[in-house]
Amino acid sequence: MVDTRTLTRRRYVLTTATLGSLALAGCTDDEDGDDDDGAGGDGDLEIVHWWTAGGEEEALTALLDGFGEEHPEIEIENNPEPGGAGAAIDAAIQTRVIDQDPPSTFQIWPGEALRPYTDADALEDVSHVYDEDAEDAYLESVLDAASPEGEVVSVPINIHRLNNVFYNVEAVDDAGIDVDDIDSPEDLLDAFAAADDAGYTGLAQQTQEPWGVLQLWEVVFTGQHGVDAFESFLAGETADLEDEIHESLTLVEEYSEYFNEDAGSVGWDEANADVITGDAAFHHNGDWAAGQYQAEGDDFEYGEDWDYIAFPGTDDVYTMVMDSFVMPSNNPTPDATEAFLTYCTSVDAQERFNPLKGSIPPRTDVPTDEFPDFSQDQMDDFEASSEQTVSIAHGSGLNPEQSSEVEETFAVFTDNWDPDETTQELIDIF
Ligand code: GAL
Repeated sequence: MVDTRTLTRRRYVLTTATLGSLALAGCTDDEDGDDDDGAGGDGDLEIVHWWTAGGEEEALTALLDGFGEEHPEIEIENNPEPGGAGAAIDAAIQTRVIDQDPPSTFQIWPGEALRPYTDADALEDVSHVYDEDAEDAYLESVLDAASPEGEVVSVPINIHRLNNVFYNVEAVDDAGIDVDDIDSPEDLLDAFAAADDAGYTGLAQQTQEPWGVLQLWEVVFTGQHGVDAFESFLAGETADLEDEIHESLTLVEEYSEYFNEDAGSVGWDEANADVITGDAAFHHNGDWAAGQYQAEGDDFEYGEDWDYIAFPGTDDVYTMVMDSFVMPSNNPTPDATEAFLTYCTSVDAQERFNPLKGSIPPRTDVPTDEFPDFSQDQMDDFEASSEQTVSIAHGSGLNPEQSSEVEETFAVFTDNWDPDETTQELIDIF
């Protein structure tokens, strides 16, 4: 099993100290991102990402196929760094950026996660890859997240919703649960207990990596206390939120009684597989989990075999998790990278990628009539949402230094399940 504490600490040290010293040393690339010889690079387009789970792999393949149709002359080196929510990618990328040996492009969350790179001048301005149509069509909030310092440094390709609860229809029916009666995070605990009584795992969960319980706490907290309180947490006003933090941690601890027994040794997709087999009733996750169900094909149908509700208490909220690609400086293949980023801004790319991924496109002009019913429903939910926020576990909410400290706190919490100590730790981070 991975030692998450070591991993997250390492992530923190690399982020703040090492990338920072790269900027101080002034050893980043020339302004235009070309190779020193100006040749534009002639190697393969190396793409580093963490999309290897069911649904995610299919979505990436569809994207790369579409790109390949437009640019058959470009060879792709598909170089995954597996680990849900980027658990392994940070350390790998940062080491390569420091060694001035970055890949052509890599997956990163827009928003705060970009900051160590922009602070170190390690990313090129990519505003020119958006043509006028793209600029008009992108949701403004998404482009803002792609531009933490004002200039656009990344190309977002999707918007996931984090605050979902997925369920196996048969298991939930068999346990006599009516999901329409689940109005609060506390009601959800009762539903887990009912599922458990009927012989199912209440909540299929992974605790192997700390982001799983961190994101669960984020949505429980939002469900109990609202988006304003959650954003006060992001703003560091934790001392005023002691009771709220404690209440939500206590409930998460109670939820943990209903996790699958192997929660500590499985990834998110392995936990979610228990919902597919019908061993588990519920799963909380971003809607990449829906991508995994869809990858099962006709055997596991939306509405019949699986379904979802918004996390109780967050009906009107859309907690956004986005992914994007960037142009690292010292780019080994600047022309091919630019072609790829340009493609990612396109309607064609976003139309191919999002339905399989379980996400919705950040461009507002993508024809979605052919999208599966689940995607249509998520788009309606997005339209209907009155509040949008972001997540700590998925990089957009806090700077990486603070995110790592929060993750570390949750790595300890998933071991001691102590709400008192964890509340204090969370307050002390800020
Ligand atoms: C998120 C990412 C998603 C999905 C998920 C699970 O951070 O934005 O696209 O991959 O992690 O690994």
